[in-house]
Amino acid sequence: MSSKDKFLPKGPGYVEKKILCIGAGYVGGPTMAVIAEKCPEYRIDVVDIDKKRIERWNSDDLPIYEPGLLEVVEKVRGKNLFFSTHVAEGIENADIIFVSVNTPTKTFGEGAGMASNLQYWEEVAHQIVKNAKSNKIIVEKSTLPVRTAQAMERILKANCKGLKFEVISNPEFLAEGTAINDLLHGDRVLIGSHKTKSGLAAAEEIADIYRHWLPEEKIITTNLWSSELSKLVANAFLAQRISSINSISALCEKTDADISEISYAIGKDSRIGSKFLNASVGFGGSCFKKDILNLVYIAKSYGLTEVAEYWHQVVKMNEYQERLFVRRMIKEMFNTVSGKKIAIFGFAFKADTGDTRESPAIEVVSKLLEERAKIVISDPKALENAKIDLKEFEGEISYEEDPYKAAKDCHAIAVLTEWNMYKDLDYNKIYDNMRKPAFIFDGRNILNHEELYNIGFNVFPIGKGQMTHFE
Ligand code: UDX
Ligand code: UDX
Repeated sequence: MSSKDKFLPKGPGYVEKKILCIGAGYVGGPTMAVIAEKCPEYRIDVVDIDKKRIERWNSDDLPIYEPGLLEVVEKVRGKNLFFSTHVAEGIENADIIFVSVNTPTKTFGEGAGMASNLQYWEEVAHQIVKNAKSNKIIVEKSTLPVRTAQAMERILKANCKGLKFEVISNPEFLAEGTAINDLLHGDRVLIGSHKTKSGLAAAEEIADIYRHWLPEEKIITTNLWSSELSKLVANAFLAQRISSINSISALCEKTDADISEISYAIGKDSRIGSKFLNASVGFGGSCFKKDILNLVYIAKSYGLTEVAEYWHQVVKMNEYQERLFVRRMIKEMFNTVSGKKIAIFGFAFKADTGDTRESPAIEVVSKLLEERAKIVISDPKALENAKIDLKEFEGEISYEEDPYKAAKDCHAIAVLTEWNMYKDLDYNKIYDNMRKPAFIFDGRNILNHEELYNIGFNVFPIGKGQMTHFE
């Protein structure tokens, strides 16, 4: 039997494996939809304690915006992919349980502001052991501190009723906005297990899922702790590149060097590589800051102060970059934005998502409001979340999906998300309807700065010379 034959469906109703995913978020939802599509002989249940979220997963109005996701969900929902709130029943029936509940940064007590809050994780472990009636493989999908599996195993073992639970680490590397493509064509899948007979067998079962569509060389197996730590390190390295290029962008603004030329020149060195070198107003997203702070906390807890400080600087640099952007806006607009109307183009933490978690736009808008600017926020997908993030400023901000209407009568535009649509707007029309002198601050370096300057704008990109019409 070839490995491909192994996965052929064996007639109607045949179910090779029952998979449960606890946590129907940005990670759990898309990952399970793709597994369901690629593994038609598996039954996949996705459960969540949030009833409203589940209702949306069962509708055409999915709870998250992700290009291509609805198409995949529509193909498999009700066939071998099911969304519900039946956590206990799901646990009882499953062979394999993926856990992708959130692990936010702790806001209280020891490690507040840095360590992961593992309370949901622990709760899930208790629920599993309470409802299980057969052996299970438990897969850590959420990003977790290194050695979390050990804590999980201790909880499971202490209450195991003679059952065997094998804990596997299988971190998710998908990026939002490209989740479906990343899942289908990711660089690698990482599976960490104990090197025992049962641990290796469980890792094989998880590898079998991915073998349905990924070649063998993309499936990496490691020990449990390497897998857990690799996920934190991957995010830390990616964020570090952005903080590194952003630190140089500040220097460029002082020296007439051009950050885009520098990114291109250094990226051509194959040892450095060209990706993730776009200077910006700062990185956002649910993972980078949380995971680095977690790494910092772990290093500190092992007494590795220098290691902790080294990585902490990546987050500090990002916060500095956000502050610098606002400071520059204020300085260039004649040292005050008070009473001035500013249009924010883009509130999502990156393009092609409605997600605003840790978006630099939150900090930029809050600071501008402190300076008493009048803010109009525009975004094609993130206005719903923006309103939640900025609830405390209700009444002080207006929201306008149409960027032309948003910019009307404004003194300035700040581009904070790299949405493609902002590149193709009719800036002549926008300029005509703005107050003069008109300013544009491109926090993502996506616009044609020369063209904007020729229209009449005073243009302030990141990490390159400003273009103004002032003497
Ligand atoms: C993200 C990261 O991708 C992940 O690696 C990190 O560890 C946590 O945050 P994400 O899918 O984006 O995961 O999180 P989120 O969209 O918040 O989804 C988590 C889901 O788990 C929520 O829908 C929440 O309701 C659910 N949940 C949480 C449960 O079902 N049970 C719980 O006990 C707690
Ligand atoms: C990240 C990781 O890429 C992914 O592998 C992991 O599973 C989860 O965390 P995500 O946060 O969804 O994914 O988006 P990503 O594309 O990494 O962007 C993160 C932030 O960095 C965004 O705010 C983005 O705009 C910013 N960014 C990215 C830059 O400012 N410059 C760049 O060159 C690249």
